[in-house]
Amino acid sequence: METRTDFVSILPFLPLIFRSSTVFWPPSVVEALKSLSQGPIHSNVNSGQLFALAIADLRNSLGISALHPSASLGFSLFFDDLMDKDNTEKWFEEVVPQLANLLLRLPALLETHYQNADLIGMETGLRLLDSQQSGMVLLSQELIAALLVCALFCLFPTTNRGAKHLPTINFDTLFLSLYEHYDVKQEHKIKCILHYFERTCSEMPMGNVSFERKILPLQNSQSNIVYPETDFWSKSTVSLCRLEARTSGLIEDQPAEALEVDFANKNIGGGALRHGCVQEEIRCMINPELIVARLFLPSMADNEAIEIVGAERFSNYSGYAASFRFCGDHVDKKSVDTMGRRRTRIIAIDALSRPGKRQYTLECLLRETNKAFCGFFDQHKSQQDQKQFEENGLKWLLAPESDQVSGMAPEMSKNNTLTTDDPSASSQADKQTSYEAMKNNEGQVVKYKEYEGEIGVATGNWGCGAFGGDPEVKAIIQWLAASQALRPFILYYTFNLEALQKLDLVVQWILSQGWTVGEVWNILVEYSTQRLKRQTKLGFFNWLLPSLYDVDPMILDVAHSM
Ligand SMILES: *[C@@H]1O[C@H](CO)[C@@H](O)[C@H](O)[C@H]1NC(C)=O
Ligand SMILES: *[C@@H]1O[C@H](CO)[C@@H](O)[C@H](O)[C@H]1NC(C)=O
Ligand SMILES: *[C@@H]1O[C@H](CO)[C@@H](O)[C@H](O)[C@H]1NC(C)=O
Repeated sequence: METRTDFVSILPFLPLIFRSSTVFWPPSVVEALKSLSQGPIHSNVNSGQLFALAIADLRNSLGISALHPSASLGFSLFFDDLMDKDNTEKWFEEVVPQLANLLLRLPALLETHYQNADLIGMETGLRLLDSQQSGMVLLSQELIAALLVCALFCLFPTTNRGAKHLPTINFDTLFLSLYEHYDVKQEHKIKCILHYFERTCSEMPMGNVSFERKILPLQNSQSNIVYPETDFWSKSTVSLCRLEARTSGLIEDQPAEALEVDFANKNIGGGALRHGCVQEEIRCMINPELIVARLFLPSMADNEAIEIVGAERFSNYSGYAASFRFCGDHVDKKSVDTMGRRRTRIIAIDALSRPGKRQYTLECLLRETNKAFCGFFDQHKSQQDQKQFEENGLKWLLAPESDQVSGMAPEMSKNNTLTTDDPSASSQADKQTSYEAMKNNEGQVVKYKEYEGEIGVATGNWGCGAFGGDPEVKAIIQWLAASQALRPFILYYTFNLEALQKLDLVVQWILSQGWTVGEVWNILVEYSTQRLKRQTKLGFFNWLLPSLYDVDPMILDVAHSM
């Protein structure tokens, strides 16, 4: 392992020792973990208070600073006061010993991981996926579980994480927050996490999860599409994809094959390990494998997104924010792909936080549209397609005099209906492929993309809660980005937001106009300019289609029949 640059980059952030080409725990840690693995009769650890002490000892052996007193008290509060007696007993007698065993196996799991890495023809080893470095890390669910036990035991070194813009990874803050500002939802977040550990201990999942940093390079790049300028959008002739608004339901329950948008913080996971409990944090609680991304993925820049494929869901829940509650086990029935990943594709994109009026500036519109596009766009596929395209010598696309983007499958975007309630429908979706030429600002073709008509986007009010985005504008931005990324559809979960009651009608009307991405972009820019100059106070939909907002029900009937 010593020559592996991937391992060298992550080593400072792991609690292990590396010597003579092998990794291992310090002997005192091995002793302590062995004792824990033999259960409370041997280790004496049968309460939250003693668990916190054991953790403190382990940290001490690793040279990590002491636990914050509130974190220790948080462990004690949870396991000794909040958890019922039977569960506490089960936790310390059955679960903790198995977690200790899993930790003992971490060095071996890492060795195996690096032996198996890169098998799919690309670098996939666990490493720091640094800012402006695109790449993928492919981890087994078992290794992820071991790393998350490290986090639960608060064993990851904390120094240097800040300097690398890495978010926190240890779970001490989860318990510290519980103690310092007790509330029920925090207790239920911890219940979700512990449920994950109980499940993995009783039956270790054997699949894989991939974590990818996606980038739109800021500089001209031969093989990648570069970070678009406003011209790219205003001149786009790509057709709009279908969009179906749903007033009820949740992104994580979407029945189609779709990228599921994580309304992310630029630090993946946001406040999941503190008090946070909105869309992204809830996803981290029900799919806890997402949390391991924080170990090796520094915060996202404007031109970056994170795609996580294969994270398993373990918990059911109800509520949102303060009303969030753990509702028992969830059996994840998503099918598995050739890399052993569940077909759950989560796209983390961070919206601008509290932009206020600034969100109507061209700069912000561009930033948000590019951010969504970075998440929705598939650079790999487009590289493969370019290769295939070059080999096939399809020179007709290179016709320099043509301003038109060629070869779209027009009937895909004309259909406004989706039949995604039948999960098999999407896999039988139109498999017809075609190519699109992507051009840079000078009008040169830089990219070709295959259109498969398969994987859409499931999203909702991205950046519209605590981040204060305008939901009408954000819906259109995501629609433009998904269309430009040649996604066949958007399933838009409105969360029954009043401002989006007419989303379906507005979408149908726009589609009936036959407008391109560029045309709708230009309209959005015009609206935003007026909004910025206080020439209008209307929402985008009302501004665009005042007739839809008239009280005359006849007009609505007309709109319905369009
Ligand atoms: C979880 O919730 C879903 C939907 O609410 C339900 O169908 C399912 O039975 C629940 N339990 C499990 C184990 O998935
Ligand atoms: C997980 O990925 C590894 C490559 O790292 C591969 O060898 C293994 O077969 C995959 N697991 C499954 C279940 O497909
Ligand atoms: C479009 O929708 C109609 C039903 O409205 C359906 O019969 C047709 O097969 C669809 N076409 C495509 C390409 O999905």
